[in-house]
Amino acid sequence: MCGITGYIGEKDAYPIIINGLKRLEYRGYDSAGIMIYDGQELNLSKTKGKVADLEQITDNDSKRKAGTIGIGHTRWATHGVPNDVNSHPHTSQSGNLVIVHNGIIENYDTLRKELINRGYTFHSDTDTEVLVNLIEEVKKQENCKLGKAVQIALTEVTGAYAIAVFDKEKPNEIIVARLGSPIAIGVGKNNEEFFIASDASPFIEFTKNVMYLEDEEMAIVKPGRDIRVRQISDDSSVEPNIQKLKLSLDQIEKGGYDHFMIKEIHEQPKAIIDTYRGRMLANQGIIKMAGIDNNLERFLNAERIIVVACGTSWHAGLVGEYLIEEMARIPVEVEYASEFRYRNPIITPKDIVIAISQSGETADTLAAIKLAKSKGAFVFGVCNVVGSSIARETHAGAYTHAGPEIGVASTKAFTTQITVLSLIALKLAKEKGTLSKSEFNTYLQKMQLIPEKVQKLLEIDEKVKEIARIYKDAKNCLYLGRGFNFPVALEGALKLKEISYIHAEGYPAAEMKHGPIALIDEDMPLFVIATNKGHYEKVVSNIQEIKSRSGKIIAIVTEGDVTVKEIADHVIEIPETEEALTPLLTTIPFQLLSYHIAVMLDKNVDQPRNLAKSVTVE
Ligand code: F6R
Repeated sequence: MCGITGYIGEKDAYPIIINGLKRLEYRGYDSAGIMIYDGQELNLSKTKGKVADLEQITDNDSKRKAGTIGIGHTRWATHGVPNDVNSHPHTSQSGNLVIVHNGIIENYDTLRKELINRGYTFHSDTDTEVLVNLIEEVKKQENCKLGKAVQIALTEVTGAYAIAVFDKEKPNEIIVARLGSPIAIGVGKNNEEFFIASDASPFIEFTKNVMYLEDEEMAIVKPGRDIRVRQISDDSSVEPNIQKLKLSLDQIEKGGYDHFMIKEIHEQPKAIIDTYRGRMLANQGIIKMAGIDNNLERFLNAERIIVVACGTSWHAGLVGEYLIEEMARIPVEVEYASEFRYRNPIITPKDIVIAISQSGETADTLAAIKLAKSKGAFVFGVCNVVGSSIARETHAGAYTHAGPEIGVASTKAFTTQITVLSLIALKLAKEKGTLSKSEFNTYLQKMQLIPEKVQKLLEIDEKVKEIARIYKDAKNCLYLGRGFNFPVALEGALKLKEISYIHAEGYPAAEMKHGPIALIDEDMPLFVIATNKGHYEKVVSNIQEIKSRSGKIIAIVTEGDVTVKEIADHVIEIPETEEALTPLLTTIPFQLLSYHIAVMLDKNVDQPRNLAKSVTVE
């Protein structure tokens, strides 16, 4: 987590860095800081809080803003509470070196003690202050330039990092390096200027030429010269790989919506189309997925599919389990990446691992992939961010093409992940012959209708708002679903928790009577998914059980439902589709509900407390 930015060139660095930090705030927003070099002095400003708080300090102080070189940071705290002192950038003891860092230096305590023995004093609780002083110490001991000192120092640290380092004694360059945390370098015309950032969004209006550092690489950026890339382990040089950026500015702006989350909820019809476009050729009865087509034998001979993911992506993985087992009859296990990576799992070369991640940077998912690869499994990635670490680490994969997701609470990433998983299940079912041709074609036809059904569902916004108004002060909520919609219940509860801070749990509807039923009283809202083909009668019985204990029932039903309507306090209708595809619809009212409750409670919808969009620490 944390976002880092930097600029070196002839423009004013301050507005570029501040605007860049605002775009990176999804990565963390506990504190923010900026260093601008004015040709003589390093001007450092930092504060607890958001980039807007930082601006208040700098706004009326032209001295803090003058200069064409600088680095900035927006923090998600790991070592040390969020306060002014722990905020980045951090300076070295001499005051010459300045660093911004995203990641964790795991052996910082040992290094810190060694540096204290050598006379260093520390002002913050951060691992980053240790790193900048380690670089300074190496520079002194080796009597070398900054680049060499950074390279040597990084061979002594364990952990993860993306860093940008500046040396007042050599003010015409910035050194960047990465291991486990992303870093992109924007290359200006004729190499006259360079932009540094955790992703490319801070510099899209300035350049379309971008280079993504690979793990264990560092780069020296100096205006007027090609980027110099080196391998950290042995200082050998690496050919820079400069690519063309496809991102556009309107994709990362709110476009008239109050929040990114609601914008992204409304983008889902298009996002789903973008996900299956070119892959699902419904009229020809074909699904084309290069990542599977090129490795078909492996997929057809797989004894098992293991899905690894975290959070919302894990919920999508659970829907994938139901889909793949139902359609393609391949056994599927779904694992939290954080558990999988540490529990010595049994994996064989006959397993296929599907790693799901919106950001493509989640540390636990990345580690799970590396473990699976080391045991010979074939790893298929389902990522949203093009060129992300997970996309590059997997053997093959399919992008979700949802476009940038900036709201911290995942919405369109979830539905597009389910779309990809549906395509995978259907494709494998076709290849294995586990679905008849007509069943397969029916699914394709129904899938093609999903975007317009999502569009129609979005029109229930006012009704959902009304329900939100009634239940916004609830202290606890239960979300219940069965079969394909059990993971949607989990996801509904997660959405409510993370943005409104109301405690909520998702359960398989029938499990309720094994414990959670004890919680039900007249103050407890229960959100129940009761679609007409999803074990409908059983869920209706569960609803009756709730009713007899005075719980408030908000049910999601299929259009035209009569039975549940008579029992429930409120119903929300979703359009008819195949049961296996209903998660793409049932999740929409839950997203809207969480959004409206959070807005009514005056919570920070796009940047909920303690969270960050990209979890690059374990
Ligand atoms: C919840 C949410 C998180 C992420 C999780 C995994 O709304 O966004 O639970 O789903 O941190 O992130 P990715 O998908 O980027 O690996």
